[in-house]
Amino acid sequence: MVCDDSLRAVDVQALELEAKKAISAASSSEELDAARVFYLGRNAVLPQALRKIRDRDKGRILNETRRNLAEAFEIRREEIAREELERRLSEEVVDVTLPGVSIAPGHLHLITQIRREIEDIFLGLGYEVIDGREVETTYYNFTALNMPTWHPARSPLASLYLNEETVLRTETSPAQIHTMEDRDPPIYMVSLGRVYRRDTPDSTHVPIFHQVEGLAVDEGITLADLKGTLRYVMRSLFGEKRDIRFRTHYFPFTEPSIEPDVSCFLCEGSGCGVCRHSGWIEMGGAGLVDPKLYEFVGYEPSRYSGFAFGLGLERIAMLRHGLPDLRQLWENDLRLLRQF
Ligand code: PHE
Repeated sequence: MVCDDSLRAVDVQALELEAKKAISAASSSEELDAARVFYLGRNAVLPQALRKIRDRDKGRILNETRRNLAEAFEIRREEIAREELERRLSEEVVDVTLPGVSIAPGHLHLITQIRREIEDIFLGLGYEVIDGREVETTYYNFTALNMPTWHPARSPLASLYLNEETVLRTETSPAQIHTMEDRDPPIYMVSLGRVYRRDTPDSTHVPIFHQVEGLAVDEGITLADLKGTLRYVMRSLFGEKRDIRFRTHYFPFTEPSIEPDVSCFLCEGSGCGVCRHSGWIEMGGAGLVDPKLYEFVGYEPSRYSGFAFGLGLERIAMLRHGLPDLRQLWENDLRLLRQF
């Protein structure tokens, strides 16, 4: 068809007929849009001719044709929309009896789970769970724990200081002092939380980790009570067949000081990679409360005795689940965390 003002009446009629056929043949909105561009778009024959026309009558006819076509397009557009909606409604039937997409709820971090588990074990033994402070004065973190001024843990190279006399606690042991200052024996308490040390992260060190502190002060407490308590806790955490042994050690705030070992839960004591072929696994620090501490808190050393211990929660998590690298517990990689 030619594209000038010589567009004759017969041509216009033929064009209208052809366009109407195309309109009714279109079966989707895409096809209809394409037809609309072809017949009424900027570069289509009819609008081009209309733009150039000078003759009044011819112009009127072309205009009418264009209006007719536009109307036909609009009617077909509505039809197709209705058809498409009906098709979707019949195709996309919702079967309400099918199982839904479940929403994955979050869950507690492994360390929080172990923390609560340990709290439960001690609550069952009649202990109280006491909150400690993550920001401590050097008095509570070092001095009242009987650490001399030259003790290496006091160095700003080992500990994170906020100012001269304030430090992020390097262990949960300051909770011992706060508790004894606050009340008189009998005391049976645990205190769990974060501790901070100036360590470069590697597979076995992170600068923030968690400890559980335990303190029992009463009349007539002995090392046997400590041993029985720790054995009970280790059996709760690592299985009924666990045993415990003590190695001598040194802590400024316990006398005597010991390091408790638990019999390896993997090889049952015969020797494996986890226990470095010794049959025993180191679990932390403990001892009888050094009577020197009673002077700091105003207890009668001849009347009371007690035990204290500190265990690392990350260590328990690593041992139990065979985690090769402590840093995994801080990376928040859901692929790891979801396993627990
Ligand atoms: N606070 C000690 C540490 O972090 C552990 C400990 C606690 C030792 C209580 C004895 C008594 O190494």
